[in-house]
Amino acid sequence: MLSQEISKRWIDFFEARGHTVVPSASLVSNEPGAMFTIAGMVPFIPYFLGREVPPYSRATSVQKCIRTLDIEEVGKTARHGTFFQMAGNFSFGDYFKKEVIPWAWELLTTSVDDGGFGLDPERLWITVYEGDDEAYDLWTRVVGVPEERVQRMSMKENYWSTGQPGPAGPDSEIFYDRGPAYGKDGGPAVDDDRYIEIWNLVFMQYQRGEGIGKDDFEILGELPKKSIDTGLGVERLAMLLQGVENFYETDQVRPVLDAAAELSGKKYHGSESASDEGYEDDVRMRVVADHIRSSLMLIADGVIPSNEGRGYILRRLMRRAIRAMRLLGVTEPCLPVLFPASRDAMKGAFPVVGDEFDRISRIAYAEEKAFLRTIESGTERLENAVKQAKATGQSTVSGQDAFTLHDTYGFPIDLTLEMAEEAGVKVDEKAFRELMEEQRHRAQADAQAKKGAHADLSTFRELADQRGSVFTGYTELKTETTLRAIIVDGATVPAASAGQQVEVVLDETPFYAEAGGQAADTGTISGNGFALDVSDVQQPVKGLSVHRAVVRQGEAVAGTPVVAQVNEQRRRDGEKAHSGTHIVHAALHQILGNEATQRGSFNKEGYLRFDFAWNEGLSESVQREVEELANTAIRDNLQTVTREMPLAEAKKLGAMSLFGEKYGDTVRVVEIGGDFSRELCGGTHVDSSAEIGSLTLLTEQSVGSGNRRVEALVGLDSFNHLAAERTLVNQLTSMMKVQKSSDLPEKLNETLNKLKAAEKELEKLRKEKLQAEAGKLVEKAETVGTVRVLLHNAGEMTANEVRDLALDLRQRLGSDAAVVAVTGINNGRPVIIIATNEAARSAGVKAGALVRVATSVLGGGGGGKDDVAQGGGQDPAKIDDAFAAIRSAVTEAQ
Ligand code: ALA
Repeated sequence: MLSQEISKRWIDFFEARGHTVVPSASLVSNEPGAMFTIAGMVPFIPYFLGREVPPYSRATSVQKCIRTLDIEEVGKTARHGTFFQMAGNFSFGDYFKKEVIPWAWELLTTSVDDGGFGLDPERLWITVYEGDDEAYDLWTRVVGVPEERVQRMSMKENYWSTGQPGPAGPDSEIFYDRGPAYGKDGGPAVDDDRYIEIWNLVFMQYQRGEGIGKDDFEILGELPKKSIDTGLGVERLAMLLQGVENFYETDQVRPVLDAAAELSGKKYHGSESASDEGYEDDVRMRVVADHIRSSLMLIADGVIPSNEGRGYILRRLMRRAIRAMRLLGVTEPCLPVLFPASRDAMKGAFPVVGDEFDRISRIAYAEEKAFLRTIESGTERLENAVKQAKATGQSTVSGQDAFTLHDTYGFPIDLTLEMAEEAGVKVDEKAFRELMEEQRHRAQADAQAKKGAHADLSTFRELADQRGSVFTGYTELKTETTLRAIIVDGATVPAASAGQQVEVVLDETPFYAEAGGQAADTGTISGNGFALDVSDVQQPVKGLSVHRAVVRQGEAVAGTPVVAQVNEQRRRDGEKAHSGTHIVHAALHQILGNEATQRGSFNKEGYLRFDFAWNEGLSESVQREVEELANTAIRDNLQTVTREMPLAEAKKLGAMSLFGEKYGDTVRVVEIGGDFSRELCGGTHVDSSAEIGSLTLLTEQSVGSGNRRVEALVGLDSFNHLAAERTLVNQLTSMMKVQKSSDLPEKLNETLNKLKAAEKELEKLRKEKLQAEAGKLVEKAETVGTVRVLLHNAGEMTANEVRDLALDLRQRLGSDAAVVAVTGINNGRPVIIIATNEAARSAGVKAGALVRVATSVLGGGGGGKDDVAQGGGQDPAKIDDAFAAIRSAVTEAQ
């Protein structure tokens, strides 16, 4: 049975039992703290928690999921995949255990001819949470599963939550026994490769708090209603129904595995354990098949490779796949073969991967190219490290080098290990791991510090639960309303007096809370005998605007009427910047193409910055083009139109969006000039583009791999910037004594050339002077034994100059045995160069050895060959002592 057929039967079964069919949500989750949709229930979390009212009480879906926690297991077990589909049925306060358990049994064991999955009931095993007698009885008495196949397990196994605060509950899991060939007898309590979990029924009843692991968290209380969340792994069932050995051989994954085998010319053995033939290559092919599919699906959902967050996970998946192909012997770009293979396998279930393949593949192929370049530059660095390791007589690349390769060059450690091995050296892996660990601790400490900065949100949650704030600021900047609450240090207070720093909540507010890149409004709130100055507005909890303010005069009293007034000029200037951001976004799309997707933005009065996905710097001419297109749009006085519509309609119109909107959501679409710019946006904007006045690009730069940032000024700030530049040019024109500013470049060029020539001349004179002095210095040479020794402290001088002088002096001393030691002082520290000629070396006097003697006196170190060696030290006052040490060393050497 094909995977798509499994999904179809699932949906049909539950639709027939009164469930609303809900399409899969995006892989990108908008639950706070969650990166990806990791289970079928994630899009429904607000319903379980009672945060939102569900439009249905029963739902069913086949949800795209990503889990990367067990990424290292991929390819090695039969059942681990990073992307998978979870078929689920959900009850929001509707049915509970006694309905869901018999249904699960019915669907699994009904014959294929009758629309079920036709699993042999004798092979099904059940686990329940140890204290859950109700579930145990339902399985054994109502369904009739023999008691020996129903096992009670601890919280660790049979209690489910997303791993984060949110809904949780005991669960009951259904396993399929693949038979004795796959492991020991004894049920799921004993072996989880033989007994494969296929379906988890979660009895959602509790709300869990912070905590770690599967069983170490606090239960905060009951959910508003007892609910059901179940999840069946479509790929796992497919593997059983298709009679294949593992996840990677199922119909939607296998074609990529085959493509990897063909591309590399390696055979796929279908091995199972490390002792089997072809195991390592098999694991690699399975990794490729899994990761390529996950990457395809993630890019389809709008994720773009980057160095942080979701983008990093995607990058890691792609790099692991490319890396596995390399280990299979393919060093050329391989995604142009693997991606189409995965597309063809997936587009039946998810047509978007076919429809948008152009965009998807462009992003993927560019990432592969960039990674191959990384490998190249990292290779060079690694080769240097290997050379160095060999030169110092050690055969180990340091942990620090491996860490730098990893951290700076994105060079995976296993690549470093493998390439070092090829070059015949080892890597100090232990030191590398320690450095990684240190970095991880630093990151954790950072995250902890940030977390600590957040105040306790419970007061805000309570207020938001009662009702949210109404935003009036789309249409007015002044609103008469009630001062609903005053909060000091996280708790509500009845009143606050002059000078106090407070947070306040209003019933209605014209103040825009910072969101979607738009800075918060500022302004005043005045009431009967008191006034507050508002400096910031945030929504710490969705839907509740919290104004940070200071009481300027009087005593602010909660529950009294107030007038909230936004600082108008600042808001207007902010709107110019926000609309300017949309226009820059549209211009970048027109000029660079739609892959220049938004990665972030920020705008405030007069200023905007916009980050977007792009791999290389924008040339000066492209920047001018963007600026010109933006200013043309401003001149054309394009009208802004704002509309609310269902997400699906907005998508159809091609609205550009950030991700996280949910299917079924109503979204706000802001158009500037119709389809010139159409974005999902909750911000405030100018009515027509001409209000922006002018837009000037300030900078264009890289912000992390694959991302660029442009900054721009708008309105009066744009004019002021241009005016300041004009003043600067005028100043330069008069300083350089040219007639017109357009003569400046030529004049500057000429001046710079003159300067360069003068510097050269100066350098030449300095050299000549040194040489003239060198002639005299030779006379200082003393005779030690049979060797002429010339010791000279040249004073302030760079190491290079010292070296030139030493070599020059050696030359001048002729062919009789001679050694020269010259010191210089550079940044307050002594440097020393020692040079010997051939006769001196034959007499046993060697530069490298002498430098070590000298630098140990100088308090430093150095080294080199027999003919020339260099070193440095700490204390210039020791130079004479160092010379004395050289004299005696020369005596001893002969
Ligand atoms: N949410 C449950 C799971 O993911 C069904 O296992």
